[in-house]
Amino acid sequence: MLISFEGIDGSGKSTQLVMLREVLEDRGLTVVVIREPGATLLSESIREILLSTKQTITPTAELLLFSAARTQLVEKVIEPALNEGSIILCDRYVDSTTAYQGFGRKLDLDSVRLCNRIATRGVMPTVTFFIDVAYEQAQQRMQFDLGVGEPDRMERSGRDFFERVRYGYLQIAVDEPERFMVIDGSRDRLEIHSDIFSTLEPLL
Ligand code: ADP
Ligand code: TYD
Repeated sequence: MLISFEGIDGSGKSTQLVMLREVLEDRGLTVVVIREPGATLLSESIREILLSTKQTITPTAELLLFSAARTQLVEKVIEPALNEGSIILCDRYVDSTTAYQGFGRKLDLDSVRLCNRIATRGVMPTVTFFIDVAYEQAQQRMQFDLGVGEPDRMERSGRDFFERVRYGYLQIAVDEPERFMVIDGSRDRLEIHSDIFSTLEPLL
């Protein structure tokens, strides 16, 4: 089963992924954790290019690079893990491309959808948890982390961009309400976690 976590940068989705991993492993389930872009050598190399502030990248090149990183990951890691019956927790997946490149960068949505179909090879999450927080709250949460390093190329995109990304995620929720769960991320970590777990438990 493939489960993805989505949200704007700093929303707290990686925190929730780790919390879910622990309870699933406690139940004796085999859990594979991956992040996007990343988790294969090629995808991690592409991640470095995408997040580096050393060069500008056009929106279409950005779309194709995220998609190239994804398709390598799907073929090399996700499909084999699914065949072995593992639970895969993915820190971002295809909805990031729709929200960030489609809505955030304003690329043509039909082209983005076509790209997503090619990159995922049709492999879609059973359930996606969108940790929804306002831009200001996400920024505040990231302040703690920013002390560690400078904001990356994507994080420098500015408020309007992230407002469009958030709106994009909410549009996906309208289009695919059965798969795409909107979770109020403004709350305490444990409350959010119990929301996520109670949604997932019947599917396990
Ligand atoms: P993301 O993966 O979405 O970028 P993280 O999980 O790394 O976000 O969280 C960003 C920051 O916010 C971290 O410092 C984390 O400890 C903190 N954080 C996560 N969830 C919450 C929460 N519910 N309330 C307050 N702070 C949180
Ligand atoms: P990352 O450090 O993983 O961000 P976070 O910790 O917030 O998840 O960096 C990934 C960045 O790439 C993040 O800004 C979202 C962006 N992204 C896209 O724009 N499109 C995509 O398809 C994916 C997977 C990520």
